[in-house]
Amino acid sequence: MENQVTVFDHPLIQHKLTFMRDKNTGSKLFRELVSEVSMLMCYEATRDLPLKEVEIDTPMASTTSKVIAGRKLAFVPILRAGCGMLDAMLSMVPAAKVGHIGLYRDEITHQPVEYYKKLPSDISERDVFVLDPMLATGGSAVDAITIIKQSKPRSIKFLCILAAPEGIRALTSAHPDVQVYCAAKDEGLDKNCYILPGLGDAGDRIFGTK
Ligand code: PRP
Ligand code: URA
Repeated sequence: MENQVTVFDHPLIQHKLTFMRDKNTGSKLFRELVSEVSMLMCYEATRDLPLKEVEIDTPMASTTSKVIAGRKLAFVPILRAGCGMLDAMLSMVPAAKVGHIGLYRDEITHQPVEYYKKLPSDISERDVFVLDPMLATGGSAVDAITIIKQSKPRSIKFLCILAAPEGIRALTSAHPDVQVYCAAKDEGLDKNCYILPGLGDAGDRIFGTK
């Protein structure tokens, strides 16, 4: 399980995360921070993309140089909060296709309820990055990945900003083939299954719905 989870401890990510956690940070800044952290995480999580050499002419000389070797990516945010991470990912990889999985946590049972699914038709040729800022019980991530796997993508990575130990255990045991990336592992969950110390309800803070 240890090798399956990467925590991005880069100082820029940790600095931005502190302002995301602060309850006095309003929606505009919170959204900007989600975007900035996602961009930095994208940079790290795509580190293993294969490269190939191509021949080009610079204004000075002919040379060989590297480009990404034809790997096709798909980004799949889990609605709603995952959408806050999407534009940043697309700004780094504009050729990626986008799918959406709609899930919300029932307030009483904390179980995910599916309400929407639309995935790229050629997802079986793509490496998928599932996006959701919060991995709490892990129920939403486990279900979203189970749904995506039915379409047989080449591979799946899960990118979140905060992860609770409970969510990491649930996700890595349900999907041992999925690499998990987060900006921090938090202490645990409260009685309502919110992450502690966490940052509150990510969807509400992104969209200003509280
Ligand atoms: C939040 C979050 C995750 C889920 C995490 O979404 O964005 O999808 O909870 O919790 P879990 O790991 O216990 O499943 P929420 O259900 O609040 O929906 P929203 O994004 O529409 O606000
Ligand atoms: N969903 C959130 O948005 N925040 C949490 O802490 C847990 C689930």
